[in-house]
Amino acid sequence: MSTRESLQTLVKEKLGDSLFIVVSNREPYIHEWAGDRINCLKPPSGLTTALDPVMHSCRGIWIAHGGGSADRDVVDEHDKVPVPPENPHYFLKRVWLTKQEEDGYYYGLANGALWPLCHVAYTRPSFSESAWSMYKRVNEVFASVVLEEVGHRKAFVFVQDYHLALVPRLIKERNPNITVAQFWHIPWPNPEVMRICPWQEELLLGLLGNDLLGFQIRYYSDNFLNTVNSSLECRVDWERHEVCRAGHKTVVQSFPISIDFAQISRESKQPRVTQEIARLKKQLRIGNEIVGLGIDRIDYTKGLPDRLRAIDRFFEKYPRYAKQVVFVQVGAPSRIHLDSYKRIHADVETLVERINWKHASGHWKPIIYLNGANMSPLSIAALRRMARFCVVSSLHDGMNLVAKEFVASRFDEDGVLILSPFTGASRELADHALVVNPYATDQFADALRQAVEMRPRERRRRMRIMRSIVQENNIYKWAEDITLELLKFQARTR
Ligand code: G6P
Repeated sequence: MSTRESLQTLVKEKLGDSLFIVVSNREPYIHEWAGDRINCLKPPSGLTTALDPVMHSCRGIWIAHGGGSADRDVVDEHDKVPVPPENPHYFLKRVWLTKQEEDGYYYGLANGALWPLCHVAYTRPSFSESAWSMYKRVNEVFASVVLEEVGHRKAFVFVQDYHLALVPRLIKERNPNITVAQFWHIPWPNPEVMRICPWQEELLLGLLGNDLLGFQIRYYSDNFLNTVNSSLECRVDWERHEVCRAGHKTVVQSFPISIDFAQISRESKQPRVTQEIARLKKQLRIGNEIVGLGIDRIDYTKGLPDRLRAIDRFFEKYPRYAKQVVFVQVGAPSRIHLDSYKRIHADVETLVERINWKHASGHWKPIIYLNGANMSPLSIAALRRMARFCVVSSLHDGMNLVAKEFVASRFDEDGVLILSPFTGASRELADHALVVNPYATDQFADALRQAVEMRPRERRRRMRIMRSIVQENNIYKWAEDITLELLKFQARTR
């Protein structure tokens, strides 16, 4: 089984003296002012967990947008800060963006156009020329910073996600000796959906600058190859999963991302989690009710209104569960500068209020809605353990790590996972989760009932298998598989 140690050994032994650079929009560590103190926060992302040990072993550089209020106050004259703060092993190099650049590149193009385009969730993408020119400009900035850092050294560059689709080509054109890989964390839709994008060709050419392009599941990498095949002059080798264009090859593969199973499982066992469960129950006035749980960034792809409507239907259909079941929804505010996100925030709040008003009785109400920004990791761990069932109802989701985190936290082998088939995670967990289409409200309400009524033995049987799947396919395996694939390029360029 892959572990942090096995990953570190692999990197130390095989990457040799090559420079390893990670490039992402979101930084692995953010410095924020809190009064007159500076706090260093770690955004809750699986990526940092996966790549920290790689960076530790090869002392690489992580290049990302400096978005924290104190980010500028802690960097050196090269805009670098050593991280992790408690045990520095590598440098985070911050890229500064103007408000105008951030608005066009991050909000406008990445999250206003590419995010809704790749997630088929019926929110219309908005294609603005000025956002596109900012996206191009910022991708140029990132590429220049990479090229400057590499200089004449031998290097691997690992680019993350849809914010930086043009970076690989920009790097490769100027320095073909650099091995460039990218991981696309979100879905890739079919060619019919993709072809409405006015800049499809530029985006595809940007991505084909990669030597290796990774997607979460085979379905997305197939969609990518189909898109390329139907819109560019190139040769697709379906057997090898490679695209050949203008003499350059891009290998396209799937690597399902995951979590640090061992760490989440271990942390969940701590006695302070048990204490936190008692504290939270008191604070939220939860007694013997069966607890259902949802933890999401508030995003229109997560199917939150659909989930709330199913809860409403569940209490309509099965009124005997009033005062017996309570649903705790944690919502983390996100990208609120965009109108589409303002709307989903408002929709969720309106629905929670309406459903609670309709079914509430005494001090019991069916839904407890909590702001994720105020929740500590300890409280989240406590909620996962308190829950009889956890709901992941995305309308479309590249992977969804909430599902895997819930499974990892249940060392007691209890708990039911209700999972949308439109998540990447369902490829691994569908046989033992309760799979339900979030658009089908009545079926969803019945799945809630099934979760509530499932016998302990059946819960244990399912959870045990899901745990062994997530334990095996953990985040270190993801990073090892990608590293092993990258090393093949090192062999080729020798
Ligand atoms: C998704 C994306 C990530 C992104 C994360 C949080 O998981 O794939 O690239 O970092 O959402 O979104 P944010 O816009 O806050 O970085």
